[in-house]
Formats: sequence, C-alpha cells, structure tokens
Amino acid sequence: MDAAEAVTLLMSPAGRVDPYPVYELLRAHGPVVEVGPSFFVVTGHAEIDAFLRDPRTRVFDRPLRDQFTPGWQDSAAMVSLSRSVLRTDPPDHTRMRRLVAGAFTPRRIAALREVVTAQAGELADAMARRLRAGEPVDFVDQFAYPLPVGVICALLGVPAADRSLFRRWAGDLTGVLEPEISAEELAVADRGAAELGAYLFDLVAARHRAPADDLTTALVRAHDADGDRLTAEELLANLMVLLVAGFETTTNLLGNGLVTLLAHPRAAAALRSRAELAPAYVEELLRHDSPVQLTTRLTVAPVPYGGSTLPAGSWLLLLLGAGNRDPRTHPEPARFDPWRAQIQPLSFGGGPHYCLGAALARMEAQVAFPLLLRSFPELAVAGTPRRRARLTLRGYATLPVTLCDQSPPVDAGTPAGAATPRTP
Ligand code: HEM
Repeated sequence: MDAAEAVTLLMSPAGRVDPYPVYELLRAHGPVVEVGPSFFVVTGHAEIDAFLRDPRTRVFDRPLRDQFTPGWQDSAAMVSLSRSVLRTDPPDHTRMRRLVAGAFTPRRIAALREVVTAQAGELADAMARRLRAGEPVDFVDQFAYPLPVGVICALLGVPAADRSLFRRWAGDLTGVLEPEISAEELAVADRGAAELGAYLFDLVAARHRAPADDLTTALVRAHDADGDRLTAEELLANLMVLLVAGFETTTNLLGNGLVTLLAHPRAAAALRSRAELAPAYVEELLRHDSPVQLTTRLTVAPVPYGGSTLPAGSWLLLLLGAGNRDPRTHPEPARFDPWRAQIQPLSFGGGPHYCLGAALARMEAQVAFPLLLRSFPELAVAGTPRRRARLTLRGYATLPVTLCDQSPPVDAGTPAGAATPRTP
C-alpha cells in the first residue's frame, strides 16, 4: 500500500480504532515519508524527538495555517487554542508557559499526591460497592473520568458540583485536535468551546470578586497585574487548555492502561504485590498504548534529517504512538514489557511544548493502578469495551468491568522472578 493510501486508512473509522497496523504500513516507507506536497508523516522515534525540539519547527504560523486550514479564524475552538500555550511559539509561548508552569512544580505535585490517593480510594470503594451488588460498572464513568477531573478541578478551583459539565464540553472541543475534521464535527467543537468559554468567563469573574488559593486566581492576578503578561483572551484560552488537557488524556491513560494490565495477568500480579514498580509500569503503559497518538508541526526554514531535508513550509504529522513502537528504540515494540532495558515514551511530546502536566498524570496513574489491582484482584473486562472514534486522543468511550471468580489466564509477558523494572 502506498503511503497516501495508508494515511487515508489511518483517518478512517477502522484506522482510528486500531492505528497500530497502519503505522507499520507507513513505517515500511521509512521513518519520514512525503505523502503529498509539503506534507510529511513521521513514524521514527529519533526523528519525531528531533523535530519536536528543532527551533525551525513551529506549532503555529499564520500564513501556513491559512494555507492548510482556510477559514480557521471562523472557528471558536481553533481561535481559542491558537491563543494558548499549546499553539503559540516563542516569545508568547515562553511568557505564558512561565506563568502556568508555577502550578506544576515537583513540590506542588508531591503535595497533590495525598489528594489523589484519597480521591482514588473513595472512587475504588464506590466501585467495590456496585460490583459486589452485581450492578454494572463502567470503569470510565466510575473511575477513569472522575479521578483526573477531580484533581484538575481542585487545582483550578472549579466547584465540585460543576465537574459533570465538562465531559461533554471537553469531548466536543477536542475534536479540533484531530488531523482531519468534518464541518459537522467542527461545529460541535465550536459549540463546546463556546460553552466551556462561557463557564470559565464566569469563573474568572467570580475569582475577581473573591480570590481563592487556586491556579485560576493566580492567572487572574497575572492578568490584572499587567495585561501585557497575560491578556484576557489568553487567560481564558489557557484555562480551557488546562482543564481539558488535565483530564481527557489522563482518563485515556487509566482506561488504556487497565485493559493492558488485565490482558497481562502475571505482570498485573507483580504490580499488585509491589507498588514500587508503578513508575516503570506507567512508562511502559504510556509507550505501549499512548493516550495521545499524534501532534503536528510546521517548518519555517529547511530542516535537515538523515541525509535529506524537509523544505520550509512543510506540514509534519508526528505519530507519537508510532514512534513509541519504533523497533530501533524499543525492540519487539508491540509487547507490553515493563522490564525493558529502556522505556522512552514520546507520549508527553518533547522540546519546548513538553507536557506541563506530565508529572501530575504520571503520579495519578502510579497511585491508581496498584490501588485498583489490590482492591480488585478478580477484576475483568465485561462485554466489549468501545473505543472513541478519535485518533489524536486515544481512549475508551465505555469500558464495562466485572468481578470474575475464575483464575485469570497465564500470560507470557513477565518472567517469574524477573528483576525490578527500571524507573525512568
Ligand atoms: C497521560 C496524560 C497526558 C498526556 C499523554 C499528555 C500529552 C501531552 C502532549 C503530547 C503534549 C504536547 C503537545 C505538542 O507538543 O503539540 C502536551 C502538552 C500539554 N499538556 Fe499534557 N498530557 C497529559 C496530561 C496532562 C495534564 C494532567 C495536564 C494538566 C494538568 C496537561 C497539560 C498540558 C499542557 C498545558 C500542555 C501544553 C504545553 C505547551 O504547549 O507548552 N497534560 N500534553
């Protein structure tokens, strides 16, 4: 299959549900392949990492954006994203990122660990009551969504009562992160952006009247102190990105990760009895089935790579999920193996836009998985989980689980008595 056909397959419903075979079709054409005029698809780990860090690549460039996505300025979702850290370049990016990064210092994340542990414990207890009463339990509804949304809402100071509102808004809005979007999906994303934007506008007004000890107040103060440091539009755009990035992705890590662990019962048993293995497990879960499968970049000058050159004005589709499975970096890449000699997931990106919430997301998963495995040694997937029809943010729409009394099948994933996996 030629590379252009493979890209079409990747964007199709089947490709979105299981992109991994399509990545291999693309990889057969080399780690960087030109698929159309000025359009390159990248599947190589080293190449993705290098392009993410190269100052000649940008997340945004107005003339190129106009060329590749005509009419983007009429989309509330696209305009809002373009004002946030996620889609700005230096110097605006540097200025805004510094303001937001203060909320994610290692000390703050360590302090949040207690909150995460308490919330995860409460959610697991509620799940246990339902499971033991024989009631149906959807892991996404009962755990994978409420845990990260509770944490990011606590960080931003969003009232607990409003948390259920965000799921649809965020789900609608994130359609705009897909590499291809239909007019209908764009209208849905714009509606999500408008509704979430209106909610955050009110939250900002409330913090003006009554400041609190939260990240929203800190950003409101940065805006009030000097509108040049953070404009009103940037304030709203960054709150929106933080809220959405804070849970959409981590929800997917918890869902994808649980399914992988349940499919590898010996590996799960090792983690159940040794919670200290969690950091290496979480890295391998991130690598093996990344919650974020891709990002994009534009080149504003020629970028040499491996004996060739990307011309200025190219659009790059960086397939993080494919890079994670590059056999040059991770031998036998399809195998889930937390005992690998090195685990270097690209799942949080790299370079100046490296995920601001990476430490938080890792911590949430490192707390959640050992707790779930200990609380529910007999947990099993019930029925058929349904994936969301999304390529960029890969996760489950529904993930029904049950308690089963049969001994789980033995997998070959983890050698008995193997050494401790390396912590990255
Ligand atoms: C497993 C969970 C997560 C994954 C896989 C993930 C993945 C990513 C990736 C790949 C990027 C870079 C995008 C690019 O370079 O174009 C990114 C950026 C970002 N993430 Fe995350 N993320 C996760 C969790 C979080 C959390 C919990 C937060 C906030 C609380 C967060 C906030 C952000 C922000 C603000 C950016 C933009 C940073 C910048 O552009 O400078 N993420 N994330």
